[in-house]
Amino acid sequence: MSDTISVGRMWKRWSALAAIIIIIGASKTGNAVAAPLKSSSPDQPSATEKKGVPKAMFTTRGGLAYAQFCTDCHRLDGEGVAKVFPPLAASPSVTNKDASAVLYFVLMGVATTETETSKGVLSMPGFARLRDDEIAEIVNFVRASWGNAKNPPVTAAQVKSARASLDPKVDVSAFDTPRIADVLKEPNAEQLVRGMRLNTETHTLLPKNVGNVLNCTSCHLNGGTVADGSPYVGVSAFFPSYAPRAGRVITLEDRINGCFLRSMNGKPLAKDGDDMKAMVAYFDWMKRNTKPEDRVEGRGVGKISQDIKPDSENGKRIYVAQCAICHGQNGEGIKNSQGQPVYPPLWGDQSFNIGAGMARTYTAAAFVKRNMPIGFHPGFPLAQGGLSDQESVDVAEYFSHMPRPDFPAKVNDWPKDKRPADSRY
Ligand code: HEC
Ligand code: HEC
Ligand code: HEC
Repeated sequence: MSDTISVGRMWKRWSALAAIIIIIGASKTGNAVAAPLKSSSPDQPSATEKKGVPKAMFTTRGGLAYAQFCTDCHRLDGEGVAKVFPPLAASPSVTNKDASAVLYFVLMGVATTETETSKGVLSMPGFARLRDDEIAEIVNFVRASWGNAKNPPVTAAQVKSARASLDPKVDVSAFDTPRIADVLKEPNAEQLVRGMRLNTETHTLLPKNVGNVLNCTSCHLNGGTVADGSPYVGVSAFFPSYAPRAGRVITLEDRINGCFLRSMNGKPLAKDGDDMKAMVAYFDWMKRNTKPEDRVEGRGVGKISQDIKPDSENGKRIYVAQCAICHGQNGEGIKNSQGQPVYPPLWGDQSFNIGAGMARTYTAAAFVKRNMPIGFHPGFPLAQGGLSDQESVDVAEYFSHMPRPDFPAKVNDWPKDKRPADSRY
C-alpha cells in the first residue's frame, strides 16, 4: 500500500467497498448481504503472498489481457506504483471470496478520494467495453496470482448480472481495440507473444539495441493497441512506402529500426534475426484485412494546429502540476524500489534523442493531447487525456526542448523533401 494513503483515506475506501458489496449483493438476492470483509484486514496480507511476474501472464487469456489493460498502472508484478497506483497483490478487494468488489472496480472504474496528503484524484477507467467473458478471465487471473486466495472462478454469467445491476457507461469510440489474448488462437502464438513482449519489455529483453530506458510501448501504448497512441492496427499493410525523412521507399523493418535508432536512442535490430521476425509477425497479426489504400481509424497520434504558438513557461507549470508525479521532478522518470524503470523519462540521457518524432513540438503535443496524463480522466483504456490544444503545445514545447541525446546521423535526414518546421535540426 502506498505510504501516502492516510488512515482516513483507507477507511473511506473500505466503507465505499463495503457499500458496493452490499449493493451488488442486494441486487442479486433482494436482501442486503454484508460481505465477510472483516476476515481480510488490509493490514494482514495473505501469508502465501508471492512476488514477481506470474507464469500465466504470457500463457493464458486472462494473463495477456491483464498485461494489455492493467499493467501500465498495476504493473506486471501486481505491485502498483508507490504513491500513484495501488497494488493488486494481496489486495483485500481481490482476495475476498465475494468477487463483487473487484467486478465493480473493473466494470465501473474508480477514482481515489482527495485527502490532505494527496491533492490529485487518480482514476481507473471502467472496462465495460470488454466482453463479459473477457472480464471474467482478467478477474480470475488477478484472483489467482501473487498468492491471492484461490477463490472459485468468476463466470461470464456473474459478470453479466453485475453489469445488469451496475449499468456502467460503455466507451463507444469507433476504434476496435485488438485483444492481445487472441494471439493464443494462432498457430504461431509463441512467436506472437515474443513479438508483443519485445514491444512491451524492449529495454529488458533487447539491452544491446536499446540505448535508454524506454520500451516501444512507452509511446505505442498498451502494446500498440490504443487509438491515437500510434497503434499498430493495419500498419504493416502500409509498408513498403516512401518516407520523406529517409528520401526513399522503406520497409516495415526499416521503420521499426528508425524507432530503435531515434526513439530508443539505440542500434538497429538485425533484419533477418528471430527478434525482428517476431516483431513483424506481431504487426502482421494486427494488420487484419487492411489494404494499402485504406484509412485506419486512430492511426498515428492525431494532429494539432501548428498555428498555436507555444508558451514554454506555462508548459513548465503544467509539467510540474500534471506530469512530474509520473515522469519525475527533473524529467528523469520514476523507478520502483528495486531501481527498475517504471515510468519513462521525458528528457536527459535516458530519453529519446533529437532525431525522434517525439522531439518535435507538434508531434509531441498531439500525442500528449490524446494520451497524457494517464489516470486522471475517464478515457478508455488508460483514463487518459484532458489538456487543451494550447496546454498540450505548451507542455510539449517545454519537455521536447529540454536537454537530450544528439543524433549524429541527422545530417542524412530529408535529403529531397522539405524538413518539417518543428524539426530540431
Ligand atoms: C490508468 C490506471 C489504471 C488502470 C489502467 C487500471 N487501474 Fe485498477 N486502479 C487504479 C486506481 C487509481 C485505483 C484506485 C486506487 C484507490 O482507490 O486508492 C485502482 C483500483 C483497482 C482495484 C481495487 C484495489 C484496491 O485494493 O483498492 C482493483 C481490483 C483494480 N484496480 C483492478 C484493475 C484491473 C483488473 C485492471 C485492468 C482491467 C485495472 N485495474 C486497470 C488505476 C488503474
Ligand atoms: C519516444 C516515443 C517512441 C518510442 C519509444 C517508439 N516509437 Fe515508434 N513511433 C513514434 C512516433 C511519434 C511515431 C509516428 C512518427 C511521426 O509521426 O513522426 C512512430 C511510428 C512508428 C511506426 C510507424 C507507424 C505508422 O503508423 O506508420 C512503427 C512501425 C514504429 N513506430 C515502431 C516502433 C517500435 C517497434 C518501437 C520499439 C522498438 C518504437 N516504435 C518505439 C514514437 C515512438
Ligand atoms: C499517472 C502517470 C502519468 C502521468 C501523470 C503522466 N504520464 Fe506520461 N506516461 C505515463 C505512462 C504509463 C507512459 C508510457 C506507457 C508505458 O511505459 O507503458 C507515459 C508516456 C509518456 C510519453 C512517451 C514516452 C516518453 O517517455 O517519451 C510522453 C511524451 C509523456 N508520457 C508525456 C506526459 C506529459 C506531458 C504529462 C503531463 C501532461 C504526462 N505524460 C503525465 C504515465 C503518466
